[in-house]
Amino acid sequence: MLVKSIEEIRKQLLEWRNQTDGQGLKIGLIPTMGALHEGHLSLIKKSIETCDKTVVSVFVNPTQFGPSEDFNNYPRTLENDLKACEEIGVDVIFAPSASEMYGEVYAPSPPAGEGRGEGSIRLSNDFLTYVVPPYFYVDKLCAKTRTGHFDGVCTVVTKLFNIIQPDYAFFGQKDAQQLIIIKKMVKDLNIPVEIISCPIVRDENGLALSSRNKNLSEEGKKEALVLSKILFNIKCCYEKGITEIKALSETAQSFLNENHELEYLEFVDKNTLEEKTTADDDTIVLIALKIDNVRLIDNCFIK
Ligand code: PAJ
Repeated sequence: MLVKSIEEIRKQLLEWRNQTDGQGLKIGLIPTMGALHEGHLSLIKKSIETCDKTVVSVFVNPTQFGPSEDFNNYPRTLENDLKACEEIGVDVIFAPSASEMYGEVYAPSPPAGEGRGEGSIRLSNDFLTYVVPPYFYVDKLCAKTRTGHFDGVCTVVTKLFNIIQPDYAFFGQKDAQQLIIIKKMVKDLNIPVEIISCPIVRDENGLALSSRNKNLSEEGKKEALVLSKILFNIKCCYEKGITEIKALSETAQSFLNENHELEYLEFVDKNTLEEKTTADDDTIVLIALKIDNVRLIDNCFIK
């Protein structure tokens, strides 16, 4: 069932809770920006297996896109998303408009450029309350080039938690920094939801599934295999006993060519995002690079 308004989803949730007197009813939420693929579906299936009711939100959130980012080009495939969700037994797809989520702040004249940033003063923190993650978590990795990105993510996820009040929320390890920040936010703000992390789903060649893969050319898709190749190679080197970060990073260079615009390759603690001086079993390796101007990210646990 498709629901577009906050009022309607609240009614639906109340109805479910009334049916069971609120006793033991487990609600699972999977926040997404749509263009659903098997990666998203793995989270959704996990919720359907473990919860009584599953809600999937589909919302391309303007506050997490910078002015020069791909908000306008972000793939939007609501019809297909609805079909995929209905086929596997999702109870509600919550797909609000930007003005439904951000109200007066967004309406009545959404800025031409969309997204947060240039021209989007109404979505800036001059006008909107934001949930801001700790500085330590956003002075690195994706946040370095995506200023304010995680403010937008934390804000929209908090709003979704407040609207739906799920018992469980499912997030992918694919966005490792996002997952760690959300866990931290839930702990720091005492939000009564359990965060379930789910493994990365890859295609048969090792490419991590991503909605943005749709924006790659056929050639670009081949080039994109470089991310997982680098990560799996580093994992192999670690297994052979190499722990020096410099040596591990150097192995990556042999895979890169002029089509790859490397943004970062970092080694951090899998729970705290603290930078590692030498790799150990708690290390997670994260990579971001651009191919065909499409920004791709991937990561793996070193062990
Ligand atoms: P989106 O990119 O649509 O991702 C929604 C969820 O699917 C995230 O938790 C993400 O980590 C997970 N996911 C994406 N690709 C995956 C893959 N290949 N394997 C496993 N899980 C995968 O992340 C967002 O949306 C937004 O930032 C959001 C949290 C919805 C806030 O707007």
